[in-house]
Amino acid sequence: MNFQLFLEALEERHFTDLRFSEVTRALRALSSTYVERRTTALPAQKALDGAGKRAAFALYYGPIHFVLVQNILAEVGMPKSPGLVVDLGCGTGVAGAAVATATTPPARVTGIDTHPWALDEARFTYRELGLSADVRRGSAARTRIPHDASFVVAAFVVNELTDSDRGALLESLQAAVARGVSVLVVEPISLRISPWWNQWADAFTAMGGRADEWRFRFDPPMIVKRLARASRLRPESLTARSLFAG
Ligand SMILES: C[S@@+](CC[C@H](N)C(=O)[O-])C[C@H]1O[C@@H](n2cnc3c(N)ncnc32)[C@H](O)[C@@H]1O
Repeated sequence: MNFQLFLEALEERHFTDLRFSEVTRALRALSSTYVERRTTALPAQKALDGAGKRAAFALYYGPIHFVLVQNILAEVGMPKSPGLVVDLGCGTGVAGAAVATATTPPARVTGIDTHPWALDEARFTYRELGLSADVRRGSAARTRIPHDASFVVAAFVVNELTDSDRGALLESLQAAVARGVSVLVVEPISLRISPWWNQWADAFTAMGGRADEWRFRFDPPMIVKRLARASRLRPESLTARSLFAG
């Protein structure tokens, strides 16, 4: 796995048809969607409308989420065996890739998302990072966790689910942990975004798991630095909360 080569391929992929200024403008709009307009934009899947926002999501949040998941794994425990990683709400695939590349040899990955663009982008990410992977269109909550899964990661997706889907997903994750699968959920720190957090944290600790809040120092790769500077974002520290069990 060569993360630097992956980033170079990502830049080439997204800057072929877009100028840097178009991506930074889209990054500002995307950040405002995730922070301020969540209740209207996310259910309508508007967050990833348009090539500019997609490029911004892949080039800026992709590397950040990859490194964030790597950092969390280093704290809560690396995957025990390669096996199969299920990446729920995979987006560009970086969270599943961070888990899969944490073992030697790397694990296989299955990425699940409702958004066709995300599946295509995840396929690219997994391939560029040398992973054996497949992607499937489907709902995170209604996907049956395969019996050979060793690890399930759900990064920044649980807060996008409806209450009933979130309830169904929690049951499915509890059943997976009971079968010996490791489960990692990552979410933003804000309780406004994740008001269900304490209930999920109780469910994970009841399974012998843990709930944590993180702040990691981060030396961003050059593309993230340049996009951050132009969009007045500050990625020098990575914050998140996580649930882990199994
Ligand atoms: C904020 S992105 C996070 C992507 C990725 N996990 C990461 O950490 O970068 C949320 C992703 O969840 C997907 N998503 C939203 N609702 C979903 C659902 N019910 N089932 C599966 N995926 C969903 C969106 O299409 C989007 O790709």
